[in-house]
Amino acid sequence: MSKNFDVVVIGGGPGGYIAAIRAAQLGFAVACIDDWKNAKGGPAPGGTCTNVGCIPSKALLQSSEHFEHAGHGFAEHGIEVKGLSFNVGQMLARKDGVVKQNNDGILYLLKKNKVAFFHGHGSFVKNDASGTTLKVAGASEETLIAKHVIIATGSNARALPGADFDEKQILSNTGALAIDATPKKLGVIGAGVIGLEMGSVWRRLGAEVTVLEALPTFLGAVDQQIAKEAHKLFVKQGLNIHLGVKIGAITVGKKDVSVAYTDDQGKEQKAVFDKLIVSIGRVPNTNGLNAAAVGLQLDGRGFVAVDADCKTNLPNVWAVGDVVRGPMLAHKAEEEGVAVAERIAGQHGHVNFNTIPWVIYTSPEIAWVGKTEQQLKAEGIAYKAGTFPFMANGRARALGDTSGMVKFLADAKSDEILGVHIIGPMASELIAEAVVAMEFRASAEDIARICHAHPSLSEATKEAALAVDKRTLNF
Ligand code: FAD
Ligand code: NAI
Repeated sequence: MSKNFDVVVIGGGPGGYIAAIRAAQLGFAVACIDDWKNAKGGPAPGGTCTNVGCIPSKALLQSSEHFEHAGHGFAEHGIEVKGLSFNVGQMLARKDGVVKQNNDGILYLLKKNKVAFFHGHGSFVKNDASGTTLKVAGASEETLIAKHVIIATGSNARALPGADFDEKQILSNTGALAIDATPKKLGVIGAGVIGLEMGSVWRRLGAEVTVLEALPTFLGAVDQQIAKEAHKLFVKQGLNIHLGVKIGAITVGKKDVSVAYTDDQGKEQKAVFDKLIVSIGRVPNTNGLNAAAVGLQLDGRGFVAVDADCKTNLPNVWAVGDVVRGPMLAHKAEEEGVAVAERIAGQHGHVNFNTIPWVIYTSPEIAWVGKTEQQLKAEGIAYKAGTFPFMANGRARALGDTSGMVKFLADAKSDEILGVHIIGPMASELIAEAVVAMEFRASAEDIARICHAHPSLSEATKEAALAVDKRTLNF
């Protein structure tokens, strides 16, 4: 027998489960279908983010950073640590525990909001005037009929041609988060967000990490002043970063994997690693949706084609998150999920793509919102820039964490903030002030005139805003 719902969400990642909760809050009868299985085969909602993305990566980043501090940072504070060691098994177990807490939390939230949860694989059967019929293949088979469908099926790691992930030697993010002993030599292909975060984890735990990047520019999407600072710091920490390479044959041996590549001088090179992480971007999950049966349009790259409001070509079928255009970020997926639920309710849900923050959780962290200096130049927008180094911030000195800076970019005439770029301690938290300021279309002077607590890292934000007008007080 089929079950009827106002809204059925396919996918229980941050885009999907948040859309389901918001739709339920708005009074709809809602179901959420998700196929992720935990180690015991049970439901594990939260998608990539919770299971093999944001949450477990941050758990391992934290554990490895504690180890690094204990080994290299504590002595300066007069704390002596003798016989320091680490246990990767315990780190993984803790990470798995953190993931489980999040899985359970989401199941609880769905229940609390009266969202019916279906554990299984969802696919389209038909879409006509009577609504959309979906099949759920799980422990049992269910048929759901929906007035509205929200596709939130997320993304998967992109493999290099001829080098499929075996998750033993050639690792996607899934394998990279489950390495059970420090590899002596770790290779990383792609110096993007995953490559730098996971490379940092295993470098801190003692691996010799080599990152091979195709582009000649390091972190090309990041403001280049910040990216250059990051490159300098990461190389100093011990990451071997090779830019402008062309990857050739990848050969898996019994216990190693060799990568042939051409370096930026055109020389043929070969590197042999114990493990290789391939982090060269992600592809949308649309296989298995039976999209063709209902005529759901995909774009040239396989993403579900949507308009600015996340509407697909099918009536009352929407799509959000990694499976559609735009940045592949959990908070972007969530914002789209909320906006779509509100649009279904006849409200005016809105996502401001100009104020979506980015964070790279390396040490120091890198965070930004809005335009980079190179974008402003390319777009011919006249701007003023102001920077303030953490070296001149009292709290950063007390923390013993003085690398990096805050950088403001403001319109030359109106002083409106156009971008804020941070590399430094707690950049992930500091960026929130810049997002609020940009949402309210604040000027750099607005931030410069706001009282910031002393001593705090946020004073560096205020000082960078003052620097736009060339009137820093502490530098
Ligand atoms: P997903 O989280 O991928 O969820 C989709 C869900 O749908 C999955 O559970 C999937 O199994 C399920 N599904 C797919 N097809 C079907 C189907 N047919 N039927 C039923 N279920 C289906 N972003 C950040 O903002 N901050 C970070 O720190 C961060 N760190 C990351 C670290 C790593 C290693 C990775 C890989 C990603 C990271 N991301 C981060 C990106 C973030 O994980 C994604 O942007 C986010 O998960 C996208 O959410 P989503 O809901 O669109 O899709
Ligand atoms: P990415 O897009 O961040 O980086 C991929 C890198 O690989 C790029 O620098 C690209 O030039 C390079 N590359 C592509 N093809 C290559 C090739 N053949 N040889 C060598 N280099 C190649 O993608 P990544 O790191 O896989 O992460 C995917 C997405 O997941 C990110 O874009 C981000 O949206 C999300 N994510 C977000 C995080 C966060 O918010 N902190 C953390 C991790 C992932």
